[in-house]
Amino acid sequence: MGEDRLEIVGPQRICGELLVQGSKNAALPMLAAMLLAEGVYILHHCPQITDVDHMLELLTDAGCRAHQEGHMLIVDTRGADRCRLEGSGAGKMRAGVTLLGSMLGRMREAELPYPGGCTIGKRPIDLHIQALGQLGVRFEHREHSLYAYADQLRGADITLDFPSVGATENVLLAAALAEGRTLLHGAAQEPEIVALSGFLRKMGAHIEGAGTPVIRVEGVERLHAAEYIVPSDRIVAGTYLLGAVMTGGELRLLHVPTAHLGILPRILTELGAEVSLKEERNEIAVKMERKVRAIPYLATAPFPDFPTDLQSALMAALSLASGPSFLEEKIFEARFQIVPELRKMGARIYEEDSLAVIEGDARLHGAQVCARELRGGAALIMAALTAEGRSEIRGMDFVKRGYEDIQGD
Ligand code: UD1
Repeated sequence: MGEDRLEIVGPQRICGELLVQGSKNAALPMLAAMLLAEGVYILHHCPQITDVDHMLELLTDAGCRAHQEGHMLIVDTRGADRCRLEGSGAGKMRAGVTLLGSMLGRMREAELPYPGGCTIGKRPIDLHIQALGQLGVRFEHREHSLYAYADQLRGADITLDFPSVGATENVLLAAALAEGRTLLHGAAQEPEIVALSGFLRKMGAHIEGAGTPVIRVEGVERLHAAEYIVPSDRIVAGTYLLGAVMTGGELRLLHVPTAHLGILPRILTELGAEVSLKEERNEIAVKMERKVRAIPYLATAPFPDFPTDLQSALMAALSLASGPSFLEEKIFEARFQIVPELRKMGARIYEEDSLAVIEGDARLHGAQVCARELRGGAALIMAALTAEGRSEIRGMDFVKRGYEDIQGD
């Protein structure tokens, strides 16, 4: 079987115990943050995924040296003196945009190809540009790249009209070395923001309020390298938990800060699973012994509500439910790309704008399907495990961007 394809013969149950990988969305902005100060950084529990490889390509372009030993990543930023990146990494990956904040913070100048990432919607960067603009950054739109510079970065009162994760990260990165105080209102409250601010604080930054809608950053003159443990990936955890529910399995996840799961444990219970949370031990276990129950209506929303990154796995689960469910996607415009693929497997799902109507009661059968983005790809794998017969999932390269060894080689 070629590398970009995965063959699954179902049905199979997801059972057992798993140590959850480090979080992609926490690790990537930490890698960007490393450009803020010269030194040797160590990240533990860093996931082995291709998005990390792409970010390291960009850091190497900037003059850094990186060495990965299993889940420990060492990055030496002492040679990083380039603020113009032509590497293909940024074009492949949305998180490359956070290099803007860190390059501006340290070098007051940055040029990056326009950010890429999964094709799940328009994904503009107007909020990043507005917020950084308030810190004194000016932008020039060039043919293939965005050029940004600032004679001086000055702290400011900034309000985000929408709690964008990436824009919040860019503000933290640039404000850490700006002159004076930045007050960011309407900030994203995702656990990844708390993780980035923890990492920046370890580097010497003065940040308070991460995890709340108002974050205060007191700019400092310089930062230093640091060592940090990447938190476990709440979305990977959620994907496997939903997979266990769909397949009638029994799964215990270790090393998951349960507070990072937000509303998910409640949703798993609504789906009919027995859920056991051990907060002090960072563990969650699910057991599913009945047919999946429908959820009348659920909308994706910023943390701690239901994450858009788990919407497609939930959709796959609800296609099996005893009755109809309505799922509304409120974060991205084009995040129902698995609908035609799930239909090939026998699911009865219809979409109308941002609403998906999942009729339920499907008996999924194996089919040849194609992943068109990261999270949808993982959801198709979960669906193929529940399906009767042979499935082939193409587009596995999307899945490898964020899931470490999902097939368990
Ligand atoms: C991050 C996550 C992604 C997750 C998303 C929402 C990373 C690397 N990726 O993406 O997995 O699905 O948060 O939780 O951490 N928007 C604008 N203008 C902007 C910025 C965003 O209109 O300047 C819109 C986006 O198009 C989208 C919504 O705001 O519709 C959310 O985007 P944002 O929170 O910024 O997500 P990302 O940081 O791209």
